[in-house]
Amino acid sequence: MEASNRPLRKVNGRIAIGVDPGYGATKVAVYKPRDNGDPRFALAVTPSVVGLPTGNTDARLFADGKIRRRDTKMPHAIRFAKDGGDYDYLVGPHLDTYANSIERMDFDRFTSGTQLALIYASISELLNPGFTDGVIMAVGLPVQLLLGDGENRRIVRGIAKNLEGEHKWVFDSQRFGMFISKVNCKVAQPLGSFFEWGLDCNGVWQRAKNDATAPVAVIDMGYNTIDCLVSSGGQISSHTRGDTIGMRRACELATALVSRAYGQVYLSLHEADTMLREYLKNGDAYAYVGGQQVSTSGACRDALESVASDALNFAERTLGRRATQYRILLTGGGGAALFEMFSKHYRQAELLYQPVTANARGLLKVATSIAGRL
Ligand SMILES: Nc1ncnc2c1ncn2[C@@H]1O[C@H](COP(=O)(O)OP(=O)(O)OP(=O)(O)O)[C@@H](O)[C@H]1O
Ligand SMILES: [Mg+2]
Repeated sequence: MEASNRPLRKVNGRIAIGVDPGYGATKVAVYKPRDNGDPRFALAVTPSVVGLPTGNTDARLFADGKIRRRDTKMPHAIRFAKDGGDYDYLVGPHLDTYANSIERMDFDRFTSGTQLALIYASISELLNPGFTDGVIMAVGLPVQLLLGDGENRRIVRGIAKNLEGEHKWVFDSQRFGMFISKVNCKVAQPLGSFFEWGLDCNGVWQRAKNDATAPVAVIDMGYNTIDCLVSSGGQISSHTRGDTIGMRRACELATALVSRAYGQVYLSLHEADTMLREYLKNGDAYAYVGGQQVSTSGACRDALESVASDALNFAERTLGRRATQYRILLTGGGGAALFEMFSKHYRQAELLYQPVTANARGLLKVATSIAGRL
């Protein structure tokens, strides 16, 4: 995350923003100019959890600005009004200390005040305070939502309606605003990674002509979903395993395995996720039972292997017997977590550069290309 007084890159007088509202984290990308004028990415990642500053004196005082945000480990307070209602949330680090948190997993969250708060918070890390005019935004959505029925189409229309137009909010006592003149929310999230791989910073194809028609599969392993995008002969199709095999499944499995070994152990999803990350980084992980540190490495290993094998089954079913013909690009935080196991089976698999924000960077390129055509 960064705050900078440097200007944003403008294309045809517009500011392009890419948004990947993941279940685990909301990722936002913008371009800022380097000293020599070339664009560079600026990125913000906000965990997709918001806190209600109620029922807890610290939280209320904090949201009201009476307790000051002293360091980077404290949450941010965010306030805005929308459709006649006032919204008042905390977002970012150490929410649990300050507030009751809300972590939504349903599709209606995309049109909710909580999702708006997460987008505003991420944008506040990247834009200067004050009003930003002429924003073009590309928002990536889960494949399951975009492939869905009438109810899902209503949600997708609602997202665009929610975002287009004027926005005003207060982030840690600083006033922000923007006018979004155009929103594209028809892009499936893994398509963001495909564009990040294939397009240049102006949204123009930058790879060999053959790469545009060669068989490429992007497998996006997120917190709650695994989506796959298949591009072959210039035709693109999207597939999903739905919401049962993201990293959240690994978190739940690891918690159940730890409980089986040591008796009922309560771990929040966030704690289990941190434990899995610890295991991936160090090959070791621990939890506390009755004040004693116990090893959870076996549980982490088994949970990750189980989710990796589900992901492999999904890839096998999606790509079929022609899988060896595909260039396979892994993306998303789950891609980073499971890459080693996945690439034992698919030797040609590649992990995209900074996979957690790859969708957002590609969506920024989509928004830039829209701005360039206006
Ligand atoms: N560098 C990393 N190494 C290993 N795991 C990681 C890494 N970065 C993120 N993760 C894990 O990846 C998961 C989140 O991935 P990601 O941010 O892609 O999900 P998301 O896009 O929010 O979810 P979804 O796509 O389901 O909506 C978390 O479990 C997180 O701990
Ligand atoms: Mg994702």
